[in-house]
Amino acid sequence: MAEKPEPVELTIERLAYGGKGVARLNGLVVFVEATAPGDRVRARIVKRKQGYAEAVATEIIQPSPHRVEPSCVHFGDCGGCSALHLAYDEQLRQKADQVRETLARIGRQGDLPIEPIQPSPVLWRYRNKMDFTFGTDADGRLVLGLHRRGQFAGIVNIEQCRLQPESFDRALAIVREFARQSMLPAYSQRRHEGFWRHLILRHSAAENRMLAVLITASGELPGVERLAEELEAADIGLAGFVWAVNDSVADVAAVKEKRFEWGADSLHERLGDLTYRISAMSFFQVNPAATRALYDCVVEFIEPNPAVTVLDAYCGTGSIGIYCARHFGRVIGIESQREAVWDARQNAALNDLGNCTFLCGPVNRMVALAKSHAAGRFGRVIVDPPRGGMDKHALAQLLELRAPVFLYVSCNPATLARDVVAATDAGYRIERVRPFDLFPHTPHIETVIKFVL
Ligand SMILES: C[S@@+](CC[C@H](N)C(=O)[O-])C[C@H]1O[C@@H](n2cnc3c(N)ncnc32)[C@H](O)[C@@H]1O
Repeated sequence: MAEKPEPVELTIERLAYGGKGVARLNGLVVFVEATAPGDRVRARIVKRKQGYAEAVATEIIQPSPHRVEPSCVHFGDCGGCSALHLAYDEQLRQKADQVRETLARIGRQGDLPIEPIQPSPVLWRYRNKMDFTFGTDADGRLVLGLHRRGQFAGIVNIEQCRLQPESFDRALAIVREFARQSMLPAYSQRRHEGFWRHLILRHSAAENRMLAVLITASGELPGVERLAEELEAADIGLAGFVWAVNDSVADVAAVKEKRFEWGADSLHERLGDLTYRISAMSFFQVNPAATRALYDCVVEFIEPNPAVTVLDAYCGTGSIGIYCARHFGRVIGIESQREAVWDARQNAALNDLGNCTFLCGPVNRMVALAKSHAAGRFGRVIVDPPRGGMDKHALAQLLELRAPVFLYVSCNPATLARDVVAATDAGYRIERVRPFDLFPHTPHIETVIKFVL
């Protein structure tokens, strides 16, 4: 029988991007889940790879001075908030260090003048959208909640989440009870069978109303009208409800075919004096209170010029382009999701902006069309890709536009750092970098980089 490895003592130096503690053992980097910088722990090495190891902490010998009592019953199980045990100023320090470290190591930018990280103005109930998944617990009971930490298929039954509006807790309870009463099984991501899949809730702070989108596999759902009525009667500000089916095997909350609709199909949010219409499934920044500072940074970095045309790539509901449109001659947006492009066009009209055009399609196939719309060259390019980053053909085409200012808004320092290499190889130089915390208590980081030629 293989012997259990001897426990080792480690001091956690920092958190890596993603939230794992980083320690060193005779020069070897060791990642330790669920620790805090400054912890002294006893740990067991569970995996050895080329150049690093992974360990599990079995005992905290000396807790870090940055530890606080995690204020959520689901902490440790839920994959959402991995930093709830850290004081907020330490969360910020760690995120700022991760941006610096990632840009240096992957982006080859060792000596950047990185500006102080901007904290979120609100630390609780800041999220305007949540994507819940149905699952089955160890006793075979249907659950509705968030993915278990580090697990692909396990779901934690969420009864309360302090990141979301309280009305979401109530909506979750009603939908979960309805699903349990139906006796239909949750969809299994391992076996690709079952019925209940996702519940998406979206809230507007400006309207204090919400949309609910229920996604199942194909099949009958008797009483779905009753569920909508029950949610409406619960006094949670339900503006609209959709039941849609999705039979694809990917664990992504997607609306393939709507089967039942009640009420509104969109909400309105406000940023400053601008109004944004947002459809249930369109992307919109999840923390509207912090988004204002992010978009103000874009305006500050981008060097407004009314003679210039801006390309807003990965534009979603047109949010950034519209925020900047008054400062430029023209804005052209590219977005692949049809519903979001529809929102973007309506948003330009809602805000009396006649200088915005939104094109629907993937960036790598739409740059040529965007160029033909922009009589002359683009003076500014803004990119705000999803967490997976940009595909290299799209990035190459955008860099070839040779816009004097290229602004990258990123929600993933690792893919950002990879793209920094391509941008600097193409002759761009980083002039400003400002990180933002839009997602307190979670590992996510937003960063804005200004490149100039
Ligand atoms: C991080 S969001 C940014 C949206 C917007 N800029 C904002 O701030 O609200 C990324 C957007 O890119 C879109 N997207 C993803 N892949 C794309 C692609 N290949 N081409 C165009 N848009 C894409 C997504 O639908 C999403 O709306």
